[in-house]
Amino acid sequence: MNNNNKNRFSFKKSDNSSKIHGLLPYRRSPIEIESSEQYGYDNIEYNLAESSVPDLKMKDLNLDLQNLALSYGDHLGNPELRHYIAKDGKDLTPDQVLITSGASAALFIIASSLLKPGDHAVILHPNYVTNIETPRAIGCKSYYLKLSFEEKFRLDFEKLGAMIKPDTRLVSLTYPHNPTGTTINEADLNRVISLVESKGCYLLLDETYREMTFNTTMPIAATLSSNAISVSSCSKSFGLPGIRIGWLITQDETLMETFLAAKEQIFICNSVIDEEIAAHFMTKKEHIFPKIKEHIQTNFKTIKTWMEKNDYLEWVQPSGGCVCFPRIKPDIQVDLEKFYKLLIENYKTLVGPGYWFEMDRKFMRIEYGWPSKQELEGGLESIIKAVQESLI
Ligand SMILES: Cc1ncc(COP(=O)(O)O)c(C=O)c1O
Repeated sequence: MNNNNKNRFSFKKSDNSSKIHGLLPYRRSPIEIESSEQYGYDNIEYNLAESSVPDLKMKDLNLDLQNLALSYGDHLGNPELRHYIAKDGKDLTPDQVLITSGASAALFIIASSLLKPGDHAVILHPNYVTNIETPRAIGCKSYYLKLSFEEKFRLDFEKLGAMIKPDTRLVSLTYPHNPTGTTINEADLNRVISLVESKGCYLLLDETYREMTFNTTMPIAATLSSNAISVSSCSKSFGLPGIRIGWLITQDETLMETFLAAKEQIFICNSVIDEEIAAHFMTKKEHIFPKIKEHIQTNFKTIKTWMEKNDYLEWVQPSGGCVCFPRIKPDIQVDLEKFYKLLIENYKTLVGPGYWFEMDRKFMRIEYGWPSKQELEGGLESIIKAVQESLI
């Protein structure tokens, strides 16, 4: 086990607030404390806890960096990289793109620029941790738009409309959604944008999985309105989490100036090496990405067949991304503590338990985009065995 990981499976967030008076309530989340990289990849045989696709290696990119000057880079980000990102959006220009250290830094920059203590934000729940924790740490009043299994994790526009108040600053959504893998279509996106425009607030759309939609890919939200801010990344769709390259997109020049200032205060610019790798990937994306999508689709068929056949779990079938969020059926009684313990300790299988997302432990995020087909099949088999051995 990784020595840094003293809190493994503590089942709770870290909390420093009682130790030093006045600390901002930044808390480490179980999803980070218990992540596979912290637990140690070598300790896991069936890793169904990622949320991405197989990691690329440097040799897959065939890139010579010998002559790269190790100077500071362009503060907005490598121009070639921004050019490729902008090409993907209608009428988008490279100066509307800000490269950040992963999507998580983009989310942090946006929340810390737009929200003050006491400000009102409407946030989709469950969600990727930064979307929840940063507004919470800032002390803003977060109102959670809760997705429910019974409603097939559908976005409820009526509820969303009613939750946006005159003083709402930010509506924060993630689509394709993590952890459920549900998506919205272009008409839905336009509906959300009309809502935020009419209420005079901003939409933050975390589009990190946008290119992994199974059917039609949505337009980049920020191209549709200056009230919409888009966030995405090389980590998830492209298998490049280790280079820590993400970005945000806005048409609004004042917002961009503020976001750039925030970035400069945190890290000035990205690593030029990381940016060079990302820019080079973009030149090869058309060759590499179809294979990645094929892998996701093959594994999706495997998990779909497994879901249809097994008697213990039920799901809302995902329509994008590489994760799903099934649950052990309500009428099946399981000792959940025992289930998760058996799963990791006996079967060396890691999933994302519901509590990673502040949800009931009967839910688990299963990721099917990262493992090989064999690894996925082995992990799914382990889940069934662990359920059977934990039945009450
Ligand atoms: C929806 C979503 N947004 C953002 C991130 C952060 O990704 P990164 O910082 O690696 O780009 C993740 C990571 O899991 C995610 O799932």
